[in-house]
Amino acid sequence: MIKYTTIVFLLILLLGTKTHSSNGDNILGIFGTHSPSHVIVHMAVMKTLADRGHNITVVTQMKPKLAAHENITVIVAPPTPERKKFMEEYMKQTFNDKPSIWTTLMKAVLQANVQLEGQIEFMVHPNFKELYENPQTKFDLVVLGPMANDFQLGIAAKLHCPVIITWVGVPLPFMDSIVGNVNDPSYVPSLNVALEAGQSTMEFTQRLGNLFKHSFLDIVNKLLNFKMNQMYERAFANKTDPEFPNYYEMKRRISLLFYNYHSPSEGPIRPTVPQSIEIGGIQVKDQPDPLPKELAKFLDDADEGVIFFSLGTNVNTNNFGPEIANILYSVLSQLPQRVVWKWEDLNNKPGNASNIYFSNWLPQDDILAHPKVRLFITHAGKGGVAEAQYHGVPMLALPIFGDQQGNAEIMTKSGFGRWLDMHTLTAEELEENIHEVLENPSYRETIGKFSTLYRDRPLTARQSVVYWTEYVLRHQGAYHLQSPLIHMDFIARNNIDVFGVILLIKRSKESYQCVIADINCV
Ligand SMILES: *[C@@H]1O[C@H](CO)[C@@H](O)[C@H](O)[C@H]1NC(C)=O
Ligand SMILES: *[C@@H]1O[C@H](CO)[C@@H](O)[C@H](O)[C@H]1NC(C)=O
Ligand SMILES: *[C@@H]1O[C@H](CO)[C@@H](O)[C@H](O)[C@H]1NC(C)=O
Ligand SMILES: *[C@@H]1O[C@H](CO)[C@@H](O)[C@H](O)[C@H]1NC(C)=O
Repeated sequence: MIKYTTIVFLLILLLGTKTHSSNGDNILGIFGTHSPSHVIVHMAVMKTLADRGHNITVVTQMKPKLAAHENITVIVAPPTPERKKFMEEYMKQTFNDKPSIWTTLMKAVLQANVQLEGQIEFMVHPNFKELYENPQTKFDLVVLGPMANDFQLGIAAKLHCPVIITWVGVPLPFMDSIVGNVNDPSYVPSLNVALEAGQSTMEFTQRLGNLFKHSFLDIVNKLLNFKMNQMYERAFANKTDPEFPNYYEMKRRISLLFYNYHSPSEGPIRPTVPQSIEIGGIQVKDQPDPLPKELAKFLDDADEGVIFFSLGTNVNTNNFGPEIANILYSVLSQLPQRVVWKWEDLNNKPGNASNIYFSNWLPQDDILAHPKVRLFITHAGKGGVAEAQYHGVPMLALPIFGDQQGNAEIMTKSGFGRWLDMHTLTAEELEENIHEVLENPSYRETIGKFSTLYRDRPLTARQSVVYWTEYVLRHQGAYHLQSPLIHMDFIARNNIDVFGVILLIKRSKESYQCVIADINCV
C-alpha cells in the first residue's frame, strides 16, 4: 500500500516537473499600434503568459498602463515628436468630423503612407532594432498585434521562430484571409451590420448592404497587402540569407490567430478554422483586483447604486466642447446615484457635486465588477462593452468614432442598453435615457443572461491563451493546424483548372463524336 502511495506521489511529482519544464519560454510581443485600448488587450494576452512563467518582452510605442511584472520587460520605441503631433491632430479631427468607419478606412488607405511610415520608424527605432538585429535573447515565439503593420512579420523570420497574430475584435476579412476562415457575406455580417436580438439571418436589404461592405473591406485588404509587400521589401532589403521568406510566404507561416471574441454568445455563428482561436474577454480579469481605498469606500457606501462614466482612452473629455460637458454634468450631478467620472484635467472640473467622483485613471474592469454599479455610460469601445457584458452591467452608449457607433447599435439591438448621438445630445434626452436603463429591468436581465452564456466555456480566455500558445511551442509552430486554403492560389481554390479540363474534354468528345458520325459540326 505504502509502495503505491509512493509511486503515485512520484508520478505526480514527475508530471508536475514535466509541465513546469515546458514553461519559461522567451516570447516577444510586437504591438506598434498607437491605440491605447488595443495595447490593453494585447498586454492582457502577454500578462497571461507572464503569469504562467514565460519570459515576456514587449515592444510598444507607448508605456502600457500595467503594473510592473517580474516576467515582463517592456521596451518602448516612442514615435518621433512630429509623428506624435500628427496622430494627436488626427484624433482631434476625427472626433470633430465624426466620420463613419468607412470614411475612416478610406482615409486610412489614402493617408496610409503617413501612418505606415510611422510603423517603419517604430521598427527601426534603435531600442527595437537591437532586439532582432543583435539578439542577446534567443526568442522562441513572436506575438504580433496587426494594425497595418503586417510587414513586421519579417522579424519572426529574422529570429527563426513561429509567430502568433492577436487581434482585438471579431475577425474582419483582413484576419479571415490570413487563416482561411470562410467569410461568406450572405450570412456573415460585416463590420457595423447589426442584427436584432434573436435574428439569425439577414434580410434582403441587409444582405445587399453587407455584400457592399464586405467587398469594400476585401478591396482595402488587397490594397493593404500590396502596400505591406512593398514595405516588407524595404524593411528587410538587407537580408543576406537567400532562404529568407518573402512577404507572402511569411503570411503563410503564421501559426495561430487569437481574436478577442466569443461567438456562441456574441454571434454570428460561422465556420472558422482550427487555427483561429477565440479569446473573447481576455482583458477582463477573472477576479477583480481590490479598488483604491477612497474609491472603494465611495462605491461601497452608494446606497442608491453607482453610475460609471468613461469615454475611454483615445478620447479625453477635454476634446469635446464645454456645452457637452455642461449637459453631462447638469444631468449627472442631479441624480440620486453616485457617479464615477473619468475626467482628464482635474484642475478644471465641470463642477464639485458631492455625488461625483472625478479621476483621470480608473480601473474600469474592477469598477464594473463592483456589485453596486447599475449603469455604464460608455463611448462603446469594444473593450469596455465586453467588460460590461462580462459583468452584466447595462449600458448607455455615447459613441464617438471608428467602430464605436456600430458597437453601440449592436449593443442596443441586443437589448443591453441604449445609445445616443453625442453631437446632438440634449439634457432631457440624456436624463430620460438614464432613467430608462436604470429603471426598466429588461436591460439588466438581458445582459445578465448574456453574461452567463459568455462565461460558459470549456476553457476560459486565459486558459485558451496558455494552452494554444504552448501548443504552438510544443509542436514547433503547429503548422499542421493550417487550412489548405491558404496554400492555394486563386485558380486552385476555385477549381478553375479542373473545370477548364472538364470543359475541354467535353468539347473534344463532342468533336470526336462529330468525326465518328461524319456529321458536319460547326
Ligand atoms: C514568473 O515566472 C516564474 C517562472 O519562471 C514563476 O515561478 C513566477 O510565478 C512568475 N511570476 C509571476 C508574478 O507570475
Ligand atoms: C528574459 O528576457 C530578457 C529580454 O527582455 C532577457 O534579458 C533575459 O535574459 C531573459 N531571461 C531569461 C531567464 O532568459
Ligand atoms: C541597409 O544597409 C544599408 C547599408 O549598409 C544602410 O544604409 C541601410 O540603412 C540599411 N537599411 C535597413 C532598413 O536596415
Ligand atoms: C470647485 O472647488 C474648487 C476648490 O474649492 C474651486 O476652486 C472651484 O472653482 C470649484 N469649481 C466649480 C466649478 O465650482
